[in-house]
Amino acid sequence: MSITEEIRTDARSAAAESELPPALEASGISKSFRAKRSSLQVLDNITLTVQKGEFVSIVGPSGSGKSTLFHIIGGLVKPDAGTIRMNGTDVTGQQGHISYMPQQPALFPWRTVEDNVLLSQEVQGNVDQKARENACYWLDKVGLGGFEKAHPHTLSGGMQQRAAFLRALLSPQELMCLDEPFSALDALTRSDMQRWLLDIWEESRRSVLFITHNIEEALLLSNRIYVFSGRPATVLQVVDVPFPRPRREEIIEHPDFIKLRRELSGWMREEQQKMQDSGPLK
Ligand SMILES: Nc1ncnc2c1ncn2[C@@H]1O[C@H](COP(=O)(O)OP(=O)(O)O)[C@@H](O)[C@H]1O
Ligand SMILES: [Mg+2]
Repeated sequence: MSITEEIRTDARSAAAESELPPALEASGISKSFRAKRSSLQVLDNITLTVQKGEFVSIVGPSGSGKSTLFHIIGGLVKPDAGTIRMNGTDVTGQQGHISYMPQQPALFPWRTVEDNVLLSQEVQGNVDQKARENACYWLDKVGLGGFEKAHPHTLSGGMQQRAAFLRALLSPQELMCLDEPFSALDALTRSDMQRWLLDIWEESRRSVLFITHNIEEALLLSNRIYVFSGRPATVLQVVDVPFPRPRREEIIEHPDFIKLRRELSGWMREEQQKMQDSGPLK
């Protein structure tokens, strides 16, 4: 099949899937944080959608409000305006609907690595021998074999991040929200993890919302990328990533990939510059 035929086939199957209600619809989300005398607007009318089985990324400058949006989607923070719908149901302000990997690994220090990874399944009441074997299989796959019974403080930052990633992966909720999951990993491990995530995702087609600073990573993994402006974050651009799946490493050399990477880097640089020019936090 030629690359254009593959792109068309991919687009057709996405259209068929989109007749179902989206896994996630964030509509008109705005949020300000109030201090004693001032108010800091962080999100301004953010609207984004993740269809069932889609991999969607958000890129944007540091401090623009990306993690805050995840807190709102996860029901940890209430928006000032807007709604969060999942599978057609309004879940604004409700917790427990997403599988979430926070920017800080947030493992429980008193639980072993294995018990941390199994946490969400335990909350739902289904940890049996098979679930334990599955957890061990994945721990081994991400290079944590032999650390099942270790406690988090004995692991490096990168290892903790991999454990937190597995906890999200093995959670039963359909939508996975991953907040810069690979940022503490060295380049080689990062590229391995991207490869695994791509393989796992292509097999399971979970719905994923993914925050990253890394444009190449976003282009390699995503169906669609939302580019956020600096604070208060607005949706600056929405980029459809047309490359067929399964994606191969070679696509990073494809002229269309290089062109998209250049465009996205340009927008990001502009936004970062604007944020620097606007000076320290007001
Ligand atoms: N609970 C909070 N109270 C006050 N300010 C907050 C709170 N949470 C986040 N902020 C501020 O909101 C802004 C956006 O933060 P964040 O969402 O973490 O950005 P990003 O993830 O894009 O780097 C930052 O200036 C941060 O200090
Ligand atoms: Mg963040």
